[in-house]
Amino acid sequence: MLEVRGLKKYFSSGIFKKEVIKAVDDVSFEVRKGETLGLVGESGCGKSTVGKCILRFEQPDSGTIFFEGKELTGLPRKEFLKVQPRMQMIFQDPYSSLDPKMMIKSSISEPLRLQGVKKKATYAEVPLLLKSVGLSPEHANRYPHQLSGGQNQRVSIARALSLKPNVLIADEITASLDVSVQAQILHLIKNLKKELSLSMLFISHDLEVVRHMCDRAAVMYAGKILEIGAVEEVFSRPQHPYSRQLLSEPIRDMKAKEIWKPDFEAKTDITSGFEGCVFYGECPYADPECRAEKPEMLQTGQDHYILCKKLTK
Ligand SMILES: Nc1ncnc2c1ncn2[C@@H]1O[C@H](COP(=O)(O)OP(=O)(O)OP(=O)(O)O)[C@@H](O)[C@H]1O
Ligand SMILES: [Mg+2]
Repeated sequence: MLEVRGLKKYFSSGIFKKEVIKAVDDVSFEVRKGETLGLVGESGCGKSTVGKCILRFEQPDSGTIFFEGKELTGLPRKEFLKVQPRMQMIFQDPYSSLDPKMMIKSSISEPLRLQGVKKKATYAEVPLLLKSVGLSPEHANRYPHQLSGGQNQRVSIARALSLKPNVLIADEITASLDVSVQAQILHLIKNLKKELSLSMLFISHDLEVVRHMCDRAAVMYAGKILEIGAVEEVFSRPQHPYSRQLLSEPIRDMKAKEIWKPDFEAKTDITSGFEGCVFYGECPYADPECRAEKPEMLQTGQDHYILCKKLTK
């Protein structure tokens, strides 16, 4: 359904824009028809940038993206806009993705209007869309500040569904909600996915949620996918030294740890074309080869791969 090959997105930062942040660095994966692929990893490892590159909210530096077998990269904007409605993204914070000055019915029907559907016809869809996300028609005439966080996230979901997408990119969709509401939204998304045969890229730093929601999982670290496989395989038998650490330890905040500027040589490595493993500086099994040579994906089981030069036990 969706295939990403060798995706790269670098940002410049620092006063003179001399530091390079490799937000996404040679990432490849596919989302198969009807499946949910989880993208999990610490804050700042590049998860959202992957989603934004797919939908061209960010322009990728290189790589190819295929949607239903059609290459999107290099597609003229006009052509891309024809495909885009079938891929929708839902974000973490419903308050910032909904216009506070727009009534719910206008927000939900806006994507249809932008596709050239007449206003009256778009409004006719609103009650059905509200119902599909567990809201009632009377919510249509309210504004976002008159709804709860969970209800607003339901509105964002209804808006994303209005164009009948085949692919949903859900980026931390429950992170801003309180725990009881989180469960309801996850339940709703899981049901909708099944009902509408959606394929989904499910971005989250919450390991338990990924385990519950996804068929396969990809573990990201410093812009790279270090492990990918069936969710139960990855969670019960993680193979990459990083995933083993991540899945057995509470998640750490990458930004807080300033992992982009660690003590070891990575800072200079990042700017001087460091080829070795990104986890080299922290890996208990690393040897000089890991620093010098680019790791390749290594198959460790059926449909289970790690980005590591060696299988360590
Ligand atoms: N527009 C931008 N300009 C400069 N740097 C950026 C930009 N967007 C993202 N970055 C940097 O790229 C890296 C990856 O960011 P991204 O938002 O993709 O991480 P994430 O995994 O989604 O994190 P979180 O879990 O906190 O949402 C971070 O270091 C971030 O600061
Ligand atoms: Mg993010």
